[in-house]
Amino acid sequence: MTIQWFPGHMAKARREITEKLKLIDVVFELVDARVPLASRNPMIDEITAGKPRLVLLNKADMADPEVTKLWSEYFEQKGLAVLVINSKTGQGINRIEAKAKELVKEKFDKMRAKGIVKPRAVRALILGIPNVGKSTLINRMAGKNIAVTGDKPGVTKKQQWIKVGSSLELLDTPGILWPKFEDQSIGLKLAVTGAIKETLLDFTEIVLFALKYFKDHYPARLQERYNLETIPEEPIALFDEIGKKRGCLMSGGHIDYEKTAEIVLRDIRSEKLGRLSYERPEDFIQ
Ligand code: G4P
Repeated sequence: MTIQWFPGHMAKARREITEKLKLIDVVFELVDARVPLASRNPMIDEITAGKPRLVLLNKADMADPEVTKLWSEYFEQKGLAVLVINSKTGQGINRIEAKAKELVKEKFDKMRAKGIVKPRAVRALILGIPNVGKSTLINRMAGKNIAVTGDKPGVTKKQQWIKVGSSLELLDTPGILWPKFEDQSIGLKLAVTGAIKETLLDFTEIVLFALKYFKDHYPARLQERYNLETIPEEPIALFDEIGKKRGCLMSGGHIDYEKTAEIVLRDIRSEKLGRLSYERPEDFIQ
């Protein structure tokens, strides 16, 4: 597997984010609830430079709710505020404004004490990797369609504020961070959830990774969906079994892995296997 991660991208992203941070009070860090760590940049603490931060576990409609609960606890234990949301339907987003106010209360109280009496709205920036749902969330919060674009090189666009409710203002351009492919599983997790194009990786390798995870965490769903009597221990044997059950055979009786992978990936994407998460806090205990 070869995914390149260009430090140049990151340097540019950081510069842009640093500029935006000067304008705001609070960061909304958007991550994919199915892969909350793979879908963030591990240097986020350093990049956001101590700004109060609200972690938004997005696409929760597709994630395993039990696992999402564990992730909420994980982030809370790290001292971060968390909300579970679905930007597509808007579920959970009505709690964002109150959370943001809570996070800046201390700073605003101090401002008031210094005599800056005029209360103003809390200003926020949405930050996240590509495809995590930043534009969808901005549009949902704005209550209308706004053409959300990243910063274009050489074009200085005036920052616009989007009013949300009575006391929140959102920057109309999100901060775009890049995931960091520190190990091979990060690319596979991002590919299986659709954050990066699966064509960047070996298709069958992505599905093999998913099957291995499902074998350990969702065996009953595999059995039911593919009518399997038992789950083979070896992921590749599981791949074979599913291929056989789905009639994905080539001449000579060999399994057509490409076709089998396509079927499984389609089943995953259309939620035929239910709501799935691809990482859990316990996976990261050393
Ligand atoms: P970005 O700005 O961070 O790059 O992401 P964007 O909003 O474009 O969202 C990427 C994809 O994720 C979109 O799907 C969007 O609809 C979907 N999405 C965003 N939030 C949620 C969510 O909470 N739940 C679900 N299920 N999907 C979400 P798409 O296939 O690219 O577009 P479309 O089919 O929705 O038009």
